[in-house]
Amino acid sequence: MSQDNEKRLAAETAVHRYVENGTFKGGIIGVGTGSTVNFFIDALAPFRDKIKAAVSSSEASSDRLRKLGIDVLDLNAAGRLDLYVDGADECDAQKRLIKGGGAALTREKIVAAASDKFVCIIDASKQVDVLGTFPLPIEVIPMARSLVAREIVALGGQPVWRDGVVTDNGNWILDVHNWRITQPVELEATLNQIVGIVTVGLFAKRPADVVIVGNREI
Ligand code: A5P
Repeated sequence: MSQDNEKRLAAETAVHRYVENGTFKGGIIGVGTGSTVNFFIDALAPFRDKIKAAVSSSEASSDRLRKLGIDVLDLNAAGRLDLYVDGADECDAQKRLIKGGGAALTREKIVAAASDKFVCIIDASKQVDVLGTFPLPIEVIPMARSLVAREIVALGGQPVWRDGVVTDNGNWILDVHNWRITQPVELEATLNQIVGIVTVGLFAKRPADVVIVGNREI
């Protein structure tokens, strides 16, 4: 099966299990960002009447949801969410993730933290034994880019500025190459202490609750 077909299958499985039949009570749904999530949004169409509104992690997903006729709320107006569905760039056996390939990591981490259940939808190419083959995205305040980069080099990483990309929050992204992340919870905590870092694309302290790979749930 092609990678796109696996993404579509994971997205449709998430809709079937968690929107159509699952614990989602027809309230407000959290929606992430990326090509897998685009399949998820498209698969929501038959159930739009069951969804009161959505909170989204990016302008791109908000536009796609609105085109379907689903209202998009600010998180402050929504309160706690039953369900958040999003993709990932890498996923290990403990459901810890690298996210942020689409530069939406800060809003993704916020919506995940505000949700009772985080369902991650991926194709099999995203599954790894050890996180870090995919360069770790880190959102930084623009004036702190070099400062943060030097701190990361001191920790053994090789940061590369994603030149030309500005996040939805007006910040910049460093992608850290050549990091074999054997202790993701500790690394996430360490990076969170560096002044100038807004968000680290490691979802280790708060991993996914459920991962759907194609039509398999792990
Ligand atoms: C967006 O910032 C990311 O976290 C995406 O969830 C991740 O890049 C997965 O994207 P695809 O679904 O396009 O592979």
